[in-house]
Amino acid sequence: MTRKTVRIAMNGVTGRMGYRQHLVRSILALREQGGLDLGDGTVLWPEPILLGRREHALRQIADRHGLAHVSTDVDAVLADPTVDVYFDAQVTSAREGSLRKAIAAGKHVYTEKPTATGLDGALELARLAHGRGVRHGVVQDKIFLPGLIKLKRLVDGGFFGRILSVRGEFGYWVFEGDWQSAQRPSWNYRAEDGGGIVVDMFPHWEYVLHELFGRVKSVQALATTHVPQRWDERGKPYDATADDAAYGIFELEGGVIAQINSSWTVRVNRDELVEFQVDGTEGSAVAGLRKCRAQHRGATPKPVWNPDVPATEAFREQWQEVPDNAHFDNGFKAQWELFLSHVHADTPYRWDLLAGARGVQLAELGLKSSAEGRRIDVPEITL
Ligand SMILES: NC(=O)c1ccc[n+]([C@@H]2O[C@H](COP(=O)([O-])OP(=O)(O)OC[C@H]3O[C@@H](n4cnc5c(N)ncnc54)[C@H](O)[C@@H]3O)[C@@H](O)[C@H]2O)c1
Repeated sequence: MTRKTVRIAMNGVTGRMGYRQHLVRSILALREQGGLDLGDGTVLWPEPILLGRREHALRQIADRHGLAHVSTDVDAVLADPTVDVYFDAQVTSAREGSLRKAIAAGKHVYTEKPTATGLDGALELARLAHGRGVRHGVVQDKIFLPGLIKLKRLVDGGFFGRILSVRGEFGYWVFEGDWQSAQRPSWNYRAEDGGGIVVDMFPHWEYVLHELFGRVKSVQALATTHVPQRWDERGKPYDATADDAAYGIFELEGGVIAQINSSWTVRVNRDELVEFQVDGTEGSAVAGLRKCRAQHRGATPKPVWNPDVPATEAFREQWQEVPDNAHFDNGFKAQWELFLSHVHADTPYRWDLLAGARGVQLAELGLKSSAEGRRIDVPEITL
């Protein structure tokens, strides 16, 4: 077995996603398992370089995990020929510029979504990476979740017959920050800092719908700011200028209609923080992050509308758990493994900057639809 070190510059590792999901649960987890076995006699050994603006915060993380390399000098790290991959989990507004630099420096790039704050920028990144000949990938973690893997299995196995509709419910209450601290960063609620639930969540909905049911052909959305004032990390009040809820309808290629509510201003009365119900002629299913329950046509009850009598059936108990039938690893890690294999073993990989640009496009058109109060076509984009 040959061990090959892959040096990954990780920018934004002091943040929620960068630290927990990408550094700890993906890269460090890969090291704990002895590296990534490429299956050709090579094991990739990821060597992170923690990149950011605050050296003490980076050093603290490095010390906690026994890591050797930290830097606050992005340019110097990008100029280092031993660095293979640049990864970005910074605040959204800082992403585009950093990715451009990394691509220009000839690094393979892997990034959180959204890849840019507008479609033009996102497409330009895809074109630049293509032109420079570097490998590129965008985090599309939701399709690597157990619940959605099981849902996809049902789709691929023909369980649903003709799929009619998808309804998604995503959200939870994000505290305003005054009497209880907010559980999300304050920039999420400021449009001028790249915040907003449409920009945050529509990129996810684009690839979830696309991968499972068909490309999004049109969008009609109503985005709003239900809670106009919040308190930041220092307890200072600020105006929430970004949308905190969005109600969207998506028409998909192949005729499926999807409707997804996204909200940081809703209390959870569901089994999971996101759930998708899929209804088809032969059966239906409800998938969350981890679970998936199904109901076949032959086991469908026949409720009769009668408000005069209490409900006699326990509807939620009439669904059958879809078994795992497999071991599911952390979704972020699973996608990292596919990306690193793509870079080093040339395996196919479709979740690239063009796919990321589709997500940015859907967010942009969703906001436009909301502002103009009309349904908008989503044209197919190409390099
Ligand atoms: N894939 C997912 O499910 C998912 C979930 C949440 C967030 N995200 C994305 O991940 C990114 C980070 O989100 P987060 O919730 O971790 O945010 P966060 O605020 O916790 O972390 C942001 C990181 O960027 C750095 N940063 C802050 N301001 C900066 C600036 N002006 N310039 C450069 N760097 C700056 C911070 O130091 C920190 O390391 C966002 O783009 C977001 O859209 C993805």
